[in-house]
Amino acid sequence: MTENWIEAAADGDVPDQGTLQVRCGSEIICLYRIGANHFATQDECSHGSASLSEGFIVEDGLIECPLHQGSFDIKTGKAVSAPCKDDIRVFPVKMENGKIFVQVNGQDGNSSK
Ligand code: FES
Repeated sequence: MTENWIEAAADGDVPDQGTLQVRCGSEIICLYRIGANHFATQDECSHGSASLSEGFIVEDGLIECPLHQGSFDIKTGKAVSAPCKDDIRVFPVKMENGKIFVQVNGQDGNSSK
């Protein structure tokens, strides 16, 4: 299994309790920072076409969609409140030399179909 770690941002780019939209290969990702921890999910809400990076971290670990206020668990991608029913994808994150890397399987940044 290939491990494709893609550099997504620098450490200070994501505000504490905040989000940042980044592109990793062909994926649009929402990065989150909660204290010293970073997380990554798909950016698009599973309910509609809203961008979760424009939402709000309402409690530690929950992102609220800006469009209809459904929410997801940032760590697991589980849909937590209506109208969201379908989970979103989560991606592994690691920090190296002050950079945030996201693992996007099967993609290497040079999009191939
Ligand atoms: Fe996200 Fe409707 S688009 S809750």
